[in-house]
Amino acid sequence: MTPPPEIGPRPGWLLDELGSAGRENLDPAHVARYDEKEDAGAAAEVALLEGLGLGPGSTVVELGPGTGQLTLAVAPRCRRLVAVDVSAPMLERLRGKLPAAGVENVEVVRAGFLSYEHAGPPADFVYSRYALHHLPDFWKAVALSRLRELLRPGGVLRLWDVVFDFEPAQAEERIEAWCASGGESIEGGWSRAELEEHVRDEHSTFTWLLEPMLGRCGFAIEAAERSEDGIFARYVARAA
Ligand SMILES: C[S@@+](CC[C@H](N)C(=O)[O-])C[C@H]1O[C@@H](n2cnc3c(N)ncnc32)[C@H](O)[C@@H]1O
Repeated sequence: MTPPPEIGPRPGWLLDELGSAGRENLDPAHVARYDEKEDAGAAAEVALLEGLGLGPGSTVVELGPGTGQLTLAVAPRCRRLVAVDVSAPMLERLRGKLPAAGVENVEVVRAGFLSYEHAGPPADFVYSRYALHHLPDFWKAVALSRLRELLRPGGVLRLWDVVFDFEPAQAEERIEAWCASGGESIEGGWSRAELEEHVRDEHSTFTWLLEPMLGRCGFAIEAAERSEDGIFARYVARAA
């Protein structure tokens, strides 16, 4: 896919972040129904970030904000929030919510984990939920290293994603159980077909690959929550 002009020229070896952004995330119909399908748990996440020091002077960079549920909840609690996403329809939806939310400190940037160039003081927080899995593992490491570079020492990465916490030999059983939890309809929730597509076409990895990767990229994991079904993981990681 051709990169949008905002993303600019890039070397021929760089991953096409738009090509790996997920078919549905570029589909305006999916974007329109996203908030009814997914609750990003923004209030609890804001409380968590405040407990970690988020305050009126904080700079926050969010990678993959999608429709901006978390963005809109965090913006009133910080100084500057940069919302970075590769999907034009997602960003259009997010931008459309800003006037009613009455927040003026949100910068919407069309770029990705591998192309966003941070300007200004380093970030105090980087937030990313359900986005890093769009990158294959090599690129996840490159992305995490870039996130480390844009954070101040001691800054916080809050990472929440589909990350598989089981052994390879358990994959069939665990993945089948997850896919069986999907419904028939794509309205109001996730369908089996969408969960299958996630596993087949996206790049969720194992906890036991992602966690050492965080360390290698300059983060110390302070908290790790792995769901019992072995499908989701949430981390608080501190920049060294
Ligand atoms: C499943 S949505 C998650 C939205 C929101 N964070 C949430 O938790 O509901 C994934 C988002 O990541 C974005 N995304 C995909 N690849 C990306 C990349 N390389 N860099 C930044 N964002 C990306 C998609 O466009 C989409 O908006």
